[in-house]
Amino acid sequence: MCGIVAYIGPKDAYPILIKGLKRLEYRGYDSAGIALLNGSLNVFKAKGKVSELENLVKNADLSGNVGIAHTRWATHGEPNDVNAHPHYSQSKNIALIHNGIIENYASLRKELEARGYTFQSSTDTEVLTNLIEDIQINEEVDLLEAVRIALNQVIGAYAIVVLARDDKDTLIAARKGSPLVIGIGIDEYFVASDASPIIEYTKNVVYLDNEEVALIRRNKDLKIKTIRNVEKTPYIQKLEMNLDALEKGGYEHFMLKEIYEQPHSIRDSMRGRLHPELGTISLGGIIDYEQKLVNAAKITIVACGTSWHAGLVGEYLIEDLARIPVEVEYASEFRYRNPIISEKDIIIAISQSGETADTLAAIELAKSKGATILGICNVVGSSISRATHAGIYTHAGPEIGVASTKAFTAQVTVLTLMALRLAQLKGTIPKTKFLHLIHELGLIPDKVEQTLKGSKKVIEIAEKFKNVRNFLYLGRGYNFPVALEGALKLKEISYIHAEGYPAAEMKHGPIALIDEEMPVVVIATKRGTYEKVVSNIQEVKARKGIVIAIVTKGDVAVKGMADYTIEIPETEEMLVPLLATIPLQKLSYHIAVMRGCNVDQPRNLAKSVTVE
Ligand code: AGP
Repeated sequence: MCGIVAYIGPKDAYPILIKGLKRLEYRGYDSAGIALLNGSLNVFKAKGKVSELENLVKNADLSGNVGIAHTRWATHGEPNDVNAHPHYSQSKNIALIHNGIIENYASLRKELEARGYTFQSSTDTEVLTNLIEDIQINEEVDLLEAVRIALNQVIGAYAIVVLARDDKDTLIAARKGSPLVIGIGIDEYFVASDASPIIEYTKNVVYLDNEEVALIRRNKDLKIKTIRNVEKTPYIQKLEMNLDALEKGGYEHFMLKEIYEQPHSIRDSMRGRLHPELGTISLGGIIDYEQKLVNAAKITIVACGTSWHAGLVGEYLIEDLARIPVEVEYASEFRYRNPIISEKDIIIAISQSGETADTLAAIELAKSKGATILGICNVVGSSISRATHAGIYTHAGPEIGVASTKAFTAQVTVLTLMALRLAQLKGTIPKTKFLHLIHELGLIPDKVEQTLKGSKKVIEIAEKFKNVRNFLYLGRGYNFPVALEGALKLKEISYIHAEGYPAAEMKHGPIALIDEEMPVVVIATKRGTYEKVVSNIQEVKARKGIVIAIVTKGDVAVKGMADYTIEIPETEEMLVPLLATIPLQKLSYHIAVMRGCNVDQPRNLAKSVTVE
């Protein structure tokens, strides 16, 4: 969602800000804008991509070594030039960029209108900008204090950066809910929604915490206080990410690069944790909570989207191996449905970005009831990773494509490690089985590599079905979440309607959709409920549906029935999601490319969903 970049230092701000906005494009947005201070405070904004903004400012004076820039994902008011950020205050002395939602903006706006303010846009952000100006004028305080007082009146979520015409040496930044990171270079500061615009300039960063305000001054130390006026010592951390991870590296799209990174990213998720030669698994991040997990009467997994699908695989794994009851909840439902949670409960929050607003709110709710919260996050230092009591990073590396691919398999890998570790501790599986499973898990990166080889079949299928209006995805057991994930991937990036179902549920409704035009993707791998799935395939064929089956290498039965088959290497049933997902990712990718869709930045979607 909205992206924030700001710079203050000796260099020209414009190129740094534009490059930063491009690095944040993956977050999803529909307009972009920039404010530069060079004596006058100039704001430029354009609906559409950052390239539209670049066209707009082609002949403008872009000098200035302090500035703020923004990509907006519309919430209040349609995506257009006027609603784009930065927003000026009424006197045009202040410019402000904002990520989040000011929930009480309507009442604040009314009060400001009564005091003579007029508004150019329909945004909540312009209300906050004028509120700050109003406080500065009426209470005769400096900008920092005005921002602090204003934020005490605000209900909602925000990450903001403020720049004032009469002070070229200061930026004010603040956050609550939405993320903000400050990069500390030599005589220069950067502010951004995440570290990607900062990484090429400095590795020293400070993550702002909720309700903190930062005073960022040219050639002076960074100062942080809370909105309640308590001074804080900035905690400087070193970024571990490197720049290559943010580039396409020769691939046409980030999504394709990330699909092909999976042998590597899954290996990284297991590194230092899986020890087949020693017959152990060690999960340092949650070591202090292992006994609590072993004794848990119930584990609740909260997540959204693809992370929720990984959670479902986690449920099957933990229940199957460690015999601990697991519930998987959509964070957005959990947070509002008065769930029964006490200090005895363990919550596992799964999130790639670590910034998903609903997941964060679910965590806060469970925390307020005394539960123990563990996280499975990809982004190091993210809000969720800091809000949890402990956790395991997935270490998949930056995921730039909006459609999650390598993050999913990394989450499933971590959940597999967790389930196996708990089973080992609880003694719920025989040692020989445990050793066999960890050996098989260790082979998965190579098998993913084999699965990725050769795209001819997938491209042939994509070509054939790129123009259909609907797809159905079916799977049972461990392959049910894979079906859900396959369907989500297709609809996200190709805009073809797709539904995932447990294969046996088909006869309770979706079977009505099946005719000679309906492609049905069935994950029909060996073991488990294979025979049952074969029957489901026959039900589809009996109604002239088109079957695209994901099968285990060497399969004969399904090959004889399906219209198309894609083989994956054999593995243990519970590890199949790590392989079966791969061809489904590739199928969605190729269909989307053939349809001319923007694969990395699909319409209306945001990479990190920081509003509810
Ligand atoms: C995945 O392809 C989606 N873009 C989306 O469903 C995503 O998984 C969801 O928004 C949750 O994000 P998170 O993992 O960053 O919390």
